[in-house]
Amino acid sequence: MGSVSLLSAAARRLDGKVALITGGASGIGECTVELFSRHGAKVVIADVQDALAHSVCKDLDPKSASFVHCDVTSESDIKNAVDTAVAKYGKLDIMINNAGIAGTFKPSILDNEKAEFEQVISVNLVGAFLGTKHAAGVMIPAGRGSIITTTSVCSILGGIGTHAYTSSKHALLGLTRNTAVELGQYGIRVNCVSPYGVATPLARNFLNVDDAEIHSFYSNLKGFVLKVEDVAGAALYLGSDDSKYVSGHNLVVDGGFTIVNAALNMFGQSG
Ligand SMILES: NC(=O)c1ccc[n+]([C@@H]2O[C@H](COP(=O)([O-])OP(=O)(O)OC[C@H]3O[C@@H](n4cnc5c(N)ncnc54)[C@H](O)[C@@H]3O)[C@@H](O)[C@H]2O)c1
Repeated sequence: MGSVSLLSAAARRLDGKVALITGGASGIGECTVELFSRHGAKVVIADVQDALAHSVCKDLDPKSASFVHCDVTSESDIKNAVDTAVAKYGKLDIMINNAGIAGTFKPSILDNEKAEFEQVISVNLVGAFLGTKHAAGVMIPAGRGSIITTTSVCSILGGIGTHAYTSSKHALLGLTRNTAVELGQYGIRVNCVSPYGVATPLARNFLNVDDAEIHSFYSNLKGFVLKVEDVAGAALYLGSDDSKYVSGHNLVVDGGFTIVNAALNMFGQSG
């Protein structure tokens, strides 16, 4: 066993479950891999960053974590990742479509390139479509499963991401709801998690700021900053049987950021 130790049997919420996590080599995905492993799940990381993914696995029990190289825009890679999880661990209980990219912010749509727009849509939206499709392929015969997609507050708000990113995250909400309706008949739950800004390589590179600046952004809920652990905790809830009747839900993890217009806040909190 590496540096991540298991919780007591009573505290473990994913004992006996198998999870496939795209984008599990870094940031939110990496933290989710570690949390799921501590809770007793067997975890397969699917990512394009091989060296990083291997170092995440090294810190976990080798019998319970593995890596498969997977570009989520490739249907054969996604199918191979799902097949690898099933071949290694016998089944797939939880699919997390987490891999994502932000694109480059350009203030005018006139400067936005079609190729980059398509690239963001391809990773964020098509990747999650393929993950959902191939996970469903093995979950339908099993008659159970939990599919979770990492969306963003950009799934419900405009103006805080690139056009491509916001479009992809809004669309993921539609994909979540549509597939939750279809797959409910097979006992499969489909949900998404929508985090506010959290310090990860994606956020640091996109915003070109350090963690302290990310933490200092306007927040409605004072006294806390959003951490990757909080987002992983939301995925843990949706992956576990604690949420066994929750489907088609967008679990927003934003401290109330998206329910207030900060410019018109009559309770007078300042950013
Ligand atoms: N960090 C934030 O502020 C924030 C907020 C809301 C939502 N999110 C979402 O959270 C998810 C995880 O992002 P993060 O912040 O942890 O960033 P991150 O950059 O730390 O992790 C993203 C991971 O996705 C992988 N990835 C990228 N393209 C891929 C591809 N084509 N195939 C397979 N893997 C690929 C990367 O290698 C990386 O390991 C993303 O979907 C992102 O949109 C992040």
